Amino acid sequence: MIKIGLLGLGTVGTGVYEILTNKYDIVNNSVKEELSIEKILVNNINKKRNINMDTSILTNNINDILDNNDIDIVVELIGGVDLAYKYIKRALSSGKHVVTANKAVVAKHMIELHTVAKNNNVGFLYEASVAGGIPIIKSLKELMKINKIHSISGIINGTSNYILSSMEQENVSFKEILKRAQDLGYAESDPTDDIDGYDMARKIAILSSLAYKVELKDSDIKTSGIRNIKINDINFFRKMKLSVKLFASSNIKNNAITAVVEPVLVPTNSVIAQVNSNLNIVDIECDILGKYQLIGQGAGKDPTANAVVSDILDIINKEYEDFEITLNEEVALTNDINEFKNYYIRCSFDDQSKIEKCKDFLSSMSQDIEVKENDLFCITNKINIDSKDDLLLGCTKFSKNIFYARMQ
Ligand code: NDP
Ligand code: HSE
Repeated sequence: MIKIGLLGLGTVGTGVYEILTNKYDIVNNSVKEELSIEKILVNNINKKRNINMDTSILTNNINDILDNNDIDIVVELIGGVDLAYKYIKRALSSGKHVVTANKAVVAKHMIELHTVAKNNNVGFLYEASVAGGIPIIKSLKELMKINKIHSISGIINGTSNYILSSMEQENVSFKEILKRAQDLGYAESDPTDDIDGYDMARKIAILSSLAYKVELKDSDIKTSGIRNIKINDINFFRKMKLSVKLFASSNIKNNAITAVVEPVLVPTNSVIAQVNSNLNIVDIECDILGKYQLIGQGAGKDPTANAVVSDILDIINKEYEDFEITLNEEVALTNDINEFKNYYIRCSFDDQSKIEKCKDFLSSMSQDIEVKENDLFCITNKINIDSKDDLLLGCTKFSKNIFYARMQ
């Protein structure tokens, strides 16, 4: 009998509990050894839960799990960084396998935790940490057996994609749709990281670190989000037959990595524009296979729990690899300044007198500027990433509400 200690019984934890109990027969048929949930760590053991369960297995004492010699696998689903990291490391160090969905911990401590797992001869799997239900990490490891990875890009945050596609399809405000994404369990408990792009930065850091054999830190990745987007932006894009997506991309050329998270404008009839709601898409370019693409649900209870349970089954069936990242010291993040793109910039003004000044400032690098009431809409000339940053910084002198997107 394999015994599981579950840390967390929130959105994802509940999904995992439901699969392991409601689908007990199917799950047990696909493993070599029977499994059961021994204990579940929660914050509040008296909280009313929306599932039928034996509440005697709930605990708020982590030692009931980490010091329990009967528990073989710890499944970390509490979120956050420091405590989760501490629990994961302790579990691995005491010879327990660990499965987690926590991209914040994986992005920050991946290499170290892999080493601790290897030294203790246990598995450390985190499929659910990137792109929810899409088996992207397994696919990447599989591709890397034969291929060299040149680039990875895609929509890898369900909340922001849900917000943008709903704004486009339903003309609803950002605030209203964010609340819906939270109610649906797509957003993090604090949605800042979803809307400001940091969640995507963590995910592209994880994929890029694996693919390019480098310890890429999410904090080093240039990251912009969608916090300031307005319906006026969406209406402007609609006239141009464009859709906006928050997008992560990384590529490697001659050991130099470029990695960025930012809103991108794509033709409304393109494949990417059709990836709506909580769906994610990941594109990988590699030397032998060429282009490889996966689409699926990137957030929410069931898809994420599916990925977590899949990792649990791999551990029980010993189908996990002792994955080792041999870091390539020559690889570094530099960001290519020889790539030139057009950018959309919208600035809004409380003070009308600043509109002309902002227009003058932007006109040195753009030919297409339109003013409508309190909004200035601009399409820049082709500029590089540094000029774009300078331009946006300059705009902050005139406007407090700015949204930009890269044109594909
Ligand atoms: P929730 O906030 O819904 O659930 C968190 C759970 O952890 C709750 O059961 C809570 O207890 C428990 N918990 C939190 N802090 C502590 C603590 N200090 N001690 C003990 N228990 C604690 O989070 P989610 O399920 O949404 O997310 C879990 C993880 O999965 C996160 O790392 C998240 O980033 C990741 N993830 C989430 C996805 C999603 O779609 N939601 C998708 C992919 C990954 P209590 O119930 O008593 O409050
Ligand atoms: N909040 C995350 C998202 C959960 O919206 O993508 C999945 O990682």
